[in-house]
Amino acid sequence: MTSSRRSRVWLALISALVLLIGLTQPVAAGKRKAKQRRQAHEEQHPEPVLWTYSVVAEYPHDHKAFTQGLQFDRTCDNSSKVCYDIFWESTGLNGQSSIRQVDVNTGEVRLRHDLAANHFGEGVTRLGERLYMITWRTGAGFVFSADKLQMVQEIDTGLGDGWGLTTDGVHLIVSESSQNIHFLDPKTLKEVRTITVKDRGKEIRWMNEMEVVDGELWGNIWQTECIARVNMTTGHVIGWIHMHGLREGLVQRGLVGSQSMDVLNGIAYDATSKRVFVTGKLWPRVFEVVPKPFESGTAPDWAAVARLCHPRVFGLG
Ligand SMILES: *[C@@H]1O[C@H](CO)[C@@H](O)[C@H](O)[C@H]1NC(C)=O
Ligand SMILES: *[C@@H]1O[C@H](CO)[C@@H](O)[C@H](O)[C@H]1NC(C)=O
Repeated sequence: MTSSRRSRVWLALISALVLLIGLTQPVAAGKRKAKQRRQAHEEQHPEPVLWTYSVVAEYPHDHKAFTQGLQFDRTCDNSSKVCYDIFWESTGLNGQSSIRQVDVNTGEVRLRHDLAANHFGEGVTRLGERLYMITWRTGAGFVFSADKLQMVQEIDTGLGDGWGLTTDGVHLIVSESSQNIHFLDPKTLKEVRTITVKDRGKEIRWMNEMEVVDGELWGNIWQTECIARVNMTTGHVIGWIHMHGLREGLVQRGLVGSQSMDVLNGIAYDATSKRVFVTGKLWPRVFEVVPKPFESGTAPDWAAVARLCHPRVFGLG
């Protein structure tokens, strides 16, 4: 080989190498990008954890209470110094709407304020020394004193369709019949931010009674026996608690006919003792439950989760 031929061969080889690097580089970069996109997608749509429950205690509940709001609290009698575990409970239906202070252990209604028959009660929550209660579809809301349960103010919430109400200690957190949860400033009732509830990208409507439990937003999905555990920052459903069997158990024990009970609705949390309470509209019991993971192989598959926990549009199955 002459030296000029040899250098031409080298040149060809180097060109081929440069071309190869040039071609493979974007492929590698493309693969990296796809991986990043996949990771971002998984972060956006994380797979929720599935939970079941065990019942650790049960308490009497007024079977005439159409529960729309439930919150755990503790109150002490000033003179006798005796303290009670209580629920703040609100009830719905026109002519039967009320706000109550209920003794957790006995179910006894200690304080009660009935609303006028034109109001259909919805959620209640205590924030500071005030109790806030909303109503359905009229935008009317009420503020009560937490010590004596006296109405101190009528408010216009501006809500077209108020359902659930809870608090993170700063905001009033309100649900409606949509997939959006609104965080309101309690003083001005102005919206501070909104989250959209989503399970792996699918919007989840109809979150009803809610509770903040250790930094998560838990809510009953109306017309289902599922509690959604929602990340309050992103709106993603990070877990589903399947409460199936609880309502049916009351029927089987002959405590109430299935026609006389409505849906599961009402979550309360005792943050000090980490106790979770649930009940339903017109249920004769409040249950203290411990969420627990399904035993291996017994968890429902994703199709069953969607069927059991995602709200369905009437008439569309
Ligand atoms: C207990 O006493 C405090 C201080 O006097 C008062 O503000 C509060 O309203 C009383 N609580 C009840 C339940 O009467
Ligand atoms: C909610 O999501 C944010 C952002 O991904 C994350 O930092 C936070 O830990 C999550 N909180 C809960 C309670 O899962």
